[in-house]
Amino acid sequence: MLRRSLIVVFTIMLISCGNDKSEIEENNQVLTLYTHRHYDTDKEIFKAFEEKSGIKINVVKANADELIQKMESEGDQSPADLLLTVDAGRLVRAKSKNLLQAANSDIISSIVPAHLRDQDNFWFGLTKRARVIVYDKNKIDPSELSTYEDLTNDKWKNKLLIRSSGNIYNQSLMASIIANNGEEVAKDWAAGIVNNFARTPKGNDRDQVKSILAGEGELAIINTYYLGKLINSLDPIEVEAGKAVVVFFPNQEDRGTHINISGIGVAKFAPNKENAIKFIEYLISKEVQEKFASANYEYPVNAEASSSELLNSWGTFKEDKLNLSKLGELNKKAVILFDEVKWQ
Ligand SMILES: [Fe+2]
Repeated sequence: MLRRSLIVVFTIMLISCGNDKSEIEENNQVLTLYTHRHYDTDKEIFKAFEEKSGIKINVVKANADELIQKMESEGDQSPADLLLTVDAGRLVRAKSKNLLQAANSDIISSIVPAHLRDQDNFWFGLTKRARVIVYDKNKIDPSELSTYEDLTNDKWKNKLLIRSSGNIYNQSLMASIIANNGEEVAKDWAAGIVNNFARTPKGNDRDQVKSILAGEGELAIINTYYLGKLINSLDPIEVEAGKAVVVFFPNQEDRGTHINISGIGVAKFAPNKENAIKFIEYLISKEVQEKFASANYEYPVNAEASSSELLNSWGTFKEDKLNLSKLGELNKKAVILFDEVKWQ
């Protein structure tokens, strides 16, 4: 008899726990984030958001192409609320595949400049990265440097380091050259770059800088934040490599230096659209933008946010204001032209 009443009590307790409304509501406060970003800073930023908002972030990490494919196959059953990528091109692709939706927010529209977001609010830039020239300070006089176009000059033969053409950062740079100069000029440019390679492309952006230190080349094209990572690395060789080079912002006399974004969009079938927008608003807040700048060496999209000391030490620069949607639209063309000139 006692045993039976205990069972009844336990059963009631279980039922009442399960039906606790506030708990159900609390459990619903989640966001599923599909992200291609691989930086420790993000973890800290997400944790701070969870603590502040009570909304839990489920992070699903993979490269953007895999995430886009996953969203496609999941269809309207996709748990994804947000897609976060390391370039604009993949966001353009996700939009064209009907995987994103408009996120209309006065806060976002007032903070993110027009050229850094989709015209229909399907995606927004969160941080900017500049694709710059870095040069060996012992071998190159910066007065010799000027534009991306000038890197095809014979004087740079066997001196130029850059990663493979399979990389999205190079594809977007090429897309910007097509957009600015036309296809024919862009193809000649790519052929000229191949002609000046110090070696067959290999490794990531950081490896190009390490190759400068090793004497394999004298200048490289890399994203700025990788230099920040090298200089602040725990590996002394990386620190030495980072300190051996100086940043040069190309095309300051004409269109400006090519920039790309790490950006985000709300998924078409987002189960938690409202919270997804709140999360984007949080990511572009002054406080978080300054964190991206100080800890991941990326340029803020929020004009109120101050850059970090390191970014300031590289100087201010004029950026190419090409609408970043173009990078996605011209991606295929860029890949074809790279193949034609045999840029590995
Ligand atoms: Fe990167």
